[in-house]
Amino acid sequence: MPASPSPFSRSGIVTRLRAAGCVFAEDEADLLISAARPQAELAAMVDRRAAGEPLEHVLGWAEFCGLRIELDPGVFVPRRRSEFLVDQAAALARQAGSPAERDAAVGPAGLAHGRRRVVVDLCCGSGALGAALAAALGQVELHAADIDPAAVRCARRNVAAAGGRVYEGDLYAPLPAGLRGRVDILLANVPYVPADEVALLPAEAREHESRAALEGGADGLDVLRRVTAEAPLWLAPGGSLLVETSERQAPRAVEAVARSGLVPRVASSEELNATVVIATRA
Ligand SMILES: C[S@@+](CC[C@H](N)C(=O)[O-])C[C@H]1O[C@@H](n2cnc3c(N)ncnc32)[C@H](O)[C@@H]1O
Repeated sequence: MPASPSPFSRSGIVTRLRAAGCVFAEDEADLLISAARPQAELAAMVDRRAAGEPLEHVLGWAEFCGLRIELDPGVFVPRRRSEFLVDQAAALARQAGSPAERDAAVGPAGLAHGRRRVVVDLCCGSGALGAALAAALGQVELHAADIDPAAVRCARRNVAAAGGRVYEGDLYAPLPAGLRGRVDILLANVPYVPADEVALLPAEAREHESRAALEGGADGLDVLRRVTAEAPLWLAPGGSLLVETSERQAPRAVEAVARSGLVPRVASSEELNATVVIATRA
């Protein structure tokens, strides 16, 4: 009879993770083995993962847009599909030229030439989206905000490389008033799961991410409507708000954008199953 593998050997960990339902058990075992410092932590990490905690919370980081984003327990795990929102934002920012060029085209007096693009990441969670956009664009003035103190603590570490600042509070309320009318790119991956669909989410999300990070009211669009309604006050002329929705919610999100006076457009990626509503201040 073949001997059963030691619970701390790679094959023992793979067997344990596979039994717990982890589809990529081999890859996850390798990540856990390389992350455990000291090795004595390994057993506890495997236990946490086998009990259903998201791999990213166990490792303490998530990969997003090629960056390693630090992640604390309970903080929303950045989703692969949101890389599409970052790509769209980067493309828009590049297309618009430098802020100085745009200011010259728009014509407001007194704006310093060569100023950095102003990026705000609202409902920032770990700060992954803002950090990734800053890495893609180079020099930006980055601000982020979230209502959850744990998310704010986590985001502060992730936006530090870009010199970003993170504020705690409800949507726009904690942002410095001086940002009004100056934001070139406003990222907002808000909670958008309809209330009665939260129960259908995988247990990893339901049990390890806060309800406030997931649920967006009856049709999932309550937070998005609030963000959209106030966005024109914060966007610079020609600046854009980018929000993620489901494909089904996009028409109602577009209506909300149109009501706010911004010009809506929808972009989607079949590959990433991602839909982004882009709202531009004319
Ligand atoms: C879907 S998660 C997205 C997090 C991050 N943007 C990402 O994509 O990884 C939504 C985030 O919105 C935050 N949030 C929910 N309601 C909020 C509010 N009223 N004001 C500020 N942040 C809020 C939650 O704490 C959570 O971090």
